[in-house]
Order: sequence, then structure tokens, then C-alpha cells
Amino acid sequence: MGAHLAKSFIFTVVCMVACGSVVVLVRAQLSPSFYAESCPNLELIVRSAMTQAVAKDATLGASMLRLFFHDCFVNGCDASVLLDDTPSIAGEKNAPPNRNSLRGFVLVDSIKLQVELQCRATVSCADILAIAARDGVNLLGGPSWVVALGRRDALTASSSAAMSNLPPPTAGLSTLASTFASKGLSMRDMTVLSGAHTVGNARCSSFRGHIYNDTNIDAGFANRRRLGCQRVGGDDSLAPLDATTSTRFDNGYFQNLIGRRGLLHSDQEMFNDGPADWLVRLYVNDPVAFATDFAAAMVKMGNITQLTGDMGEIRLNCRRIN
Ligand code: HEM
Repeated sequence: MGAHLAKSFIFTVVCMVACGSVVVLVRAQLSPSFYAESCPNLELIVRSAMTQAVAKDATLGASMLRLFFHDCFVNGCDASVLLDDTPSIAGEKNAPPNRNSLRGFVLVDSIKLQVELQCRATVSCADILAIAARDGVNLLGGPSWVVALGRRDALTASSSAAMSNLPPPTAGLSTLASTFASKGLSMRDMTVLSGAHTVGNARCSSFRGHIYNDTNIDAGFANRRRLGCQRVGGDDSLAPLDATTSTRFDNGYFQNLIGRRGLLHSDQEMFNDGPADWLVRLYVNDPVAFATDFAAAMVKMGNITQLTGDMGEIRLNCRRIN
């Protein structure tokens, strides 16, 4: 057994005697020091690659954050989102919520290559994504947090699981809340995580319904957005999710929501005379609460049932299984 496996000492424990008929599965613990001996420079390698990438194209910070979210929500944080389709796997990349939409795959490849040069067959793509997402946020001015490591990479991916687990931008608050609840994430976690939309862009096809058909939207804002997003055609033309500071990880997204300038229908649902309104107000008034809650919720999201221990594999190329 490798040193790093031995370190995460708990493998699957099936508690049958003490727990009666209930079978409890205890997974190997993730740990910030998981690669301390096997790949001591890991975080430096990722940080430096992300620093260069974000300096050239700030939107890549946002793209890595979204990749991590879309990874974790579909069968856990196991890099399944990174697998290319094969004749036997209809993967997640080309599922409708992701196709023509997720970006950053080339950057992941480049980071993985640099990690492999120093630490061959040691670090999972899932862990690289977890660190890159954290660094993307932090490099754009957002908080930082300690990333626990030791995730393993999936042996398969599922287009249909991506369809059923990723919330669409047309969803209402109760659907959104139940999707997050099914991942162990509370209303508070969901509202603060939606603050990720303080950076990055969306395609016209994602917000057309909101700017043409919804009423809970500032009229001036809707008109401005309609200029770049006609009723028909131009599906892929982009608009910033936070119209004021889309490459700055600040609380501008929440300020927009209060002014009814959320770009997506789902964004504005967080502030629409409902149970999340007070949280939106909190994050407008207290940027430190936003930063602190966001970091804590990202850690929680990163813990969604992942492969650990001797499950899955350490992929050599993030796009395909070994
Ligand atoms: C609350 C439910 C959510 C919905 C319905 C949703 C939906 C979307 C949609 C439709 C887009 C634009 C995609 C496109 O038009 O191509 C987008 C972009 C984005 N989302 Fe979300 N999202 C949600 C939550 C999250 C969470 C929890 C995170 C991260 C923690 C996140 C991070 C991002 C980022 C950073 C972008 C911009 C990506 C880029 O510019 O490359 N989203 N989201």
C-alpha cells in the first residue's frame, strides 16, 4: 500500500455489530497533507499555472470554479466531468448543461502535465480541480481556504447524471433548494455559492427567457441585455453574470440581485420575496460574511461523496481513464 494511502488510514468500515442493521460506510478521510511526501510542490505548481492563466485571461478563474461545481454535483468530486466521450461512455462534457458552455479543459490538461512531470501517477485530476478552483477564486480577489486532498478519479462519467443533477437556469427557488439539499447543502450554502456568479459569463440562451419574459427584472437592465441577445439567434453571445465587476470576486452579484439585475432567472430567485432574501441582504452589507461563508461552503461542496482510498484511480490524462 502506498504511503499516501496508508496515511488516510480509514478505509471502508462496515459497521454491522454496533450499528445493528444499519450499514455505515466510513470513507477515507481527505487531508490537506495528503501529498506532503508524495508531491510536496503540488500546490505551488497549481498556483503558478493558475496565476499565469488568470493573468492572460481572467475568465479562466471563473471557468475552473464552474468546472469544480459541475464535477462535484454529478456523482461527487471525482473528475468525471473531465472525461472525453468514448464509444462506450456518453460523458458529462457533452450533456446539455455543459456542451458549448464549460471551459477550461485545456488549462486542466496543462496543469496536469506539469504535475505529472514532478509527481508521476500520484495526484488525482479531482484534487487538481479542487485546488485550481480555490486558486481561481482567490486570484480574482476572493477568499482562500485549505483544500483537503485525497480524492480519486472516476472510471466512468454519465451524461444522464449530469442532466439530472445540475440545476437549470430556469429553475425556481424550491427546485434549486432541493437540488442543493440532495447534496447536503443548505439554503445558506446555496445562496452563498450562487455568489460564484460574481465572476464569469453566460450565453444568451441561458438568460433569454429571463430578459424577455420575467417581471422580476429591472426594465433598464433587461433592455440593455436584449441588445446583445435577440429573441431569435445568437444563442452563444455572452454577457457578464455580474454586469459591474465580472472579473472581480466581490459581492457585486448580491448588490445586483437587490436591484433586480440578476442575469439568470435562477439568480434572481435568490432575491424574490422569498426565504433567501435575508441572506442576499447579509452578503450585501457584510462582504466578510460572504467571503467566510463562501469558503466554508466550497469546503462542504468539495466533500460531496467522492472516491477515496483504493477506489477509482489516479488518471494519467484527465481526459481518459488509464
Ligand atoms: C444555483 C444554481 C446554479 C445555476 C442554475 C447555475 C447556472 C449557470 C449558468 C446557466 C451559467 C452560464 C452558462 C452558459 O450560459 O454557458 C453559469 C455560469 C457560471 N456558474 Fe453557475 N449556476 C449555479 C450555481 C453555481 C455554483 C454553485 C457555482 C460555483 C460554486 C457556479 C459557478 C459558475 C461560474 C463561475 C460561471 C461562469 C463560468 C464561465 O464564465 O466560464 N454556479 N451558471
